[in-house]
Amino acid sequence: MSVDGLLEGVQIIAFDWTYRYLNGAAARHGQRDVKDLVGRTMMACYPGIEHTPVFATMRRVMDSRQAERVRNEFTYPSGESRWFDLVIEPSPEGICVLSIDVTDEHHAAERQRALDAQLQQAQKMEALGQLAGGIAHDFNNLLTQILGYCDLLTDSLGEDPRAADVREVRKASDHAAALTRDLLAFSRKQVPELRVLDLNAVISDSARMLARLLGETIDMDVRLNPALGRIKADPTHVNQILMNLVANARDAMPDGGKLTVETRNTELDEEYRSTHLDARPGRYVQLAVTDTGQGMTPEVQAHLFEPFFTTKAIGKGTGLGLASVHGIVKQSGGNIWVYSEPGRGTTFKVHLPRVDDAVESPAPPDEPPSVTPATVLIVEDNEALLALATRILERDRYDVLAAGSGDEALRIAGTHPGPIDLLLADVVMPGRSGPALAQEILQARPGLAVVHMSGYTDDAVVRHGIVDAAVTFVQKPFTPDGLLRKVREALARVRSRAD
Ligand SMILES: Nc1ncnc2c1ncn2[C@@H]1O[C@H](COP(=O)(O)OP(=O)(O)OP(=O)(O)O)[C@@H](O)[C@H]1O
Ligand SMILES: [Mg+2]
Repeated sequence: MSVDGLLEGVQIIAFDWTYRYLNGAAARHGQRDVKDLVGRTMMACYPGIEHTPVFATMRRVMDSRQAERVRNEFTYPSGESRWFDLVIEPSPEGICVLSIDVTDEHHAAERQRALDAQLQQAQKMEALGQLAGGIAHDFNNLLTQILGYCDLLTDSLGEDPRAADVREVRKASDHAAALTRDLLAFSRKQVPELRVLDLNAVISDSARMLARLLGETIDMDVRLNPALGRIKADPTHVNQILMNLVANARDAMPDGGKLTVETRNTELDEEYRSTHLDARPGRYVQLAVTDTGQGMTPEVQAHLFEPFFTTKAIGKGTGLGLASVHGIVKQSGGNIWVYSEPGRGTTFKVHLPRVDDAVESPAPPDEPPSVTPATVLIVEDNEALLALATRILERDRYDVLAAGSGDEALRIAGTHPGPIDLLLADVVMPGRSGPALAQEILQARPGLAVVHMSGYTDDAVVRHGIVDAAVTFVQKPFTPDGLLRKVREALARVRSRAD
């Protein structure tokens, strides 16, 4: 009987570790010839093998006379390695080792494990996002009230020394608002103001600020691909990505080092997708930020994007930086990957979908138009916010019609005898959404200006593109000045169209 043609390797090793017999497959598995092995000891054939775990297993079987199975990685002198399943059994001469090459199977299983881990991570982020988004939504409404009444109070206090106390309240609220914004960004509940952008221009515009952020001990190398494609994104969001990645890089290089900011066009294919969950194949613009800092352990990398995960001292970091970056990138249909080794440095790669449209230059007029008499219909289901918005607009001498729901707003719009110049509506309301309500009222009153208030959106609002339409958005939390400016802008826009 010959076992030379088998795929499985068979070898018999004597008690003194000399090879007694090998079939062809066993020799092939070791990338050696049978005649070079038989009659010699394992240690002579493979120097150093006596220190490996697999040798320890063989020794155990020699002694115990009990069969064992192991999966073993065998590295060849070339550096290449393959995986084998081994069955080691006692035989009258010593041991008999059966080997099967399972390299492909092993790699497929590894890949599957990696994908499973990514899926689990994505699900965890989704759940955290839901939670954070809910908190941020409620905080936004509260902060709008706190900020709003602070400003009203400051105005009415005038020279009163207590105005200084109110300013402190206001400062703390601003800080809280910034945290809330990061949480909203993380949970993808921010309404992006999308524009076609040149990423290179965004980077060039902030290069000076970045250099200042980095300080003297860090060299910055900016490599922008001149043929870079366009992206469609909110410029403030893109800035937020850049600032956070650069600030982190700086913190990772307390003793100085080098920061590289790079852009290029890239294509993600099916191959990439097979190892990167939810990376949609397609054309992307890549932003890579590389530092020569302290790098990260796999444990830190596993939690990196979670909100409030930080390794920095109390008061030094909130752990919301990368969480907000992650949310922004995901909301734009992109993805972010990190490559890092402790002591070596870190690279973050952000991919944002590429678009073919031409760059849109920023439109908003700098000078806020002057106040003109107008009637404003406000719709907001949060009573306190409705009262605040009414108060802010009335103080600026607008005539206000207040509605606590979409239905009530429709009724007022249908029965109010005079003109209504502007609708100020919350985006997310029970029953009818702000945009749907605006559509209905616009049919009867086509000259209506529309301003949406939102601090929060479900994906549907963004997906349906209403954020692209010519409506004005006020982000919550808003300040009295911010709200009034948007109202004036929207009125001016409608009136210039009518002229
Ligand atoms: N370039 C980097 N090099 C090494 N570690 C990094 C790098 N970027 C992020 N990290 C690690 O990831 C953690 C989370 O980063 P993240 O930006 O989310 O929060 P933070 O920087 O700690 O605080 P915040 O950004 O809110 O001020 C950091 O605390 C740090 O441990
Ligand atoms: Mg940070």
